[in-house]
Amino acid sequence: MSSDRFPEIFQSAFQAGHLLKCTLSKPAAAAPSDLKNIYIRPVTLKNGVKIAFNYRYKTRDEVKNYTLPEALGLLKNMLGTAFLNAELFTTERDFSVRFEKDGTASWSDKQPASTVAPETTHDREKKRLLDPASPWLHALGITSTKGEVLAAAQDKWRQINKYLEIIETLLRTHPLPPDVQIADMGSGKGYLTFALYDFLTTRLNMQPQMTGIELRPALVEFCNKTARESGFSGLNFLATDINDYHPERLDMLIALHACDTATDLALATGIRLKAQIIVAAPCCHKQIRRDMETRNEMAPLLRFGILEERQAEILTDGIRALLLEANGYRTNVFEFISSEHTAKNVMITAITEKKQKPRQPVLDKIAALKSGFGIREHYLEHLLDNNFQHLPE
Ligand SMILES: C[S@@+](CC[C@H](N)C(=O)[O-])C[C@H]1O[C@@H](n2cnc3c(N)ncnc32)[C@H](O)[C@@H]1O
Repeated sequence: MSSDRFPEIFQSAFQAGHLLKCTLSKPAAAAPSDLKNIYIRPVTLKNGVKIAFNYRYKTRDEVKNYTLPEALGLLKNMLGTAFLNAELFTTERDFSVRFEKDGTASWSDKQPASTVAPETTHDREKKRLLDPASPWLHALGITSTKGEVLAAAQDKWRQINKYLEIIETLLRTHPLPPDVQIADMGSGKGYLTFALYDFLTTRLNMQPQMTGIELRPALVEFCNKTARESGFSGLNFLATDINDYHPERLDMLIALHACDTATDLALATGIRLKAQIIVAAPCCHKQIRRDMETRNEMAPLLRFGILEERQAEILTDGIRALLLEANGYRTNVFEFISSEHTAKNVMITAITEKKQKPRQPVLDKIAALKSGFGIREHYLEHLLDNNFQHLPE
């Protein structure tokens, strides 16, 4: 099959409304430097259906929309020269082509991975969780004065959007009252705090009362000033230790990358105040690692420092999830954002169970883990044991 065949198949799939997406990969010498892939898909814009090329550079994405002839011209120019691999997904069949450096092409095609008709509505308009032109994004150094996401802030932007997607899903399954009371513990410079407030007020029409808790007064001052300037009247920041923050009501607890046991302090507060949704992305995991003296069959593996470190992280976060379960939550632990973007990439979410499950089986699992790994006490357990004498058995 000749290399022109690919644009021809692309054209007929697009015209028939069967085109789902197309990916160009394996950049060659003719590709602009730092360009890793191009992701192509149809989009509906005000002036009709166009073809969006998402140019993925090492540190940023750039999206351009083209007419069909423009897109075909680009494909013809780039295939086999700038990119050596291409895949085309349609509702009828999936195709892939690989070029050798001498220009020869090998083709394959198979049953389609998806037969669902393509979504051509402009996703960015439809699903946009935040307006990049929001002034707070500029104040926090994410966007330019024109409201464009800066190249250096692309990872942060992706993280913010992923975070909001997670929250949106949690709120869909577990709706909270419009005047939801939220604490973001260890709020730092406030990227995710502002993002959540903006999303809840602008997209979900809620009227949250949200407090960022942060040890560093300079950050708190900056965030309060930015909140005032943004007209975010329900958002405020307090310069205090998580340990000293005791609100009367808490519906949602957020603790993102709060250092080591600060995550446990936050989780304990959330549990004590019966927050209905808890979202934590733990940071460093020192406490369990210091305490661990493995006595089970893992011991020969954990003499290697890196494996012991990973195991300590798994135990720290795994026991956190179990302790949440023991306190009436349904929990989930998953990758927050790919480790390509940050090493701190685990997220724990918890929502209150409608029906309380027996605690003892979960406590037994925790006890077995602690015994096998020679852990005297998990810090969250310590906090809970000292604060919660009255939990139902
Ligand atoms: C790594 S930053 C994370 C900031 C933000 N949550 C994010 O994910 O972008 C952790 C922040 O937690 C704050 N912090 C750590 N321990 C704390 C405590 N006990 N009380 C209040 N803030 C704390 C630190 O000062 C720091 O700004």
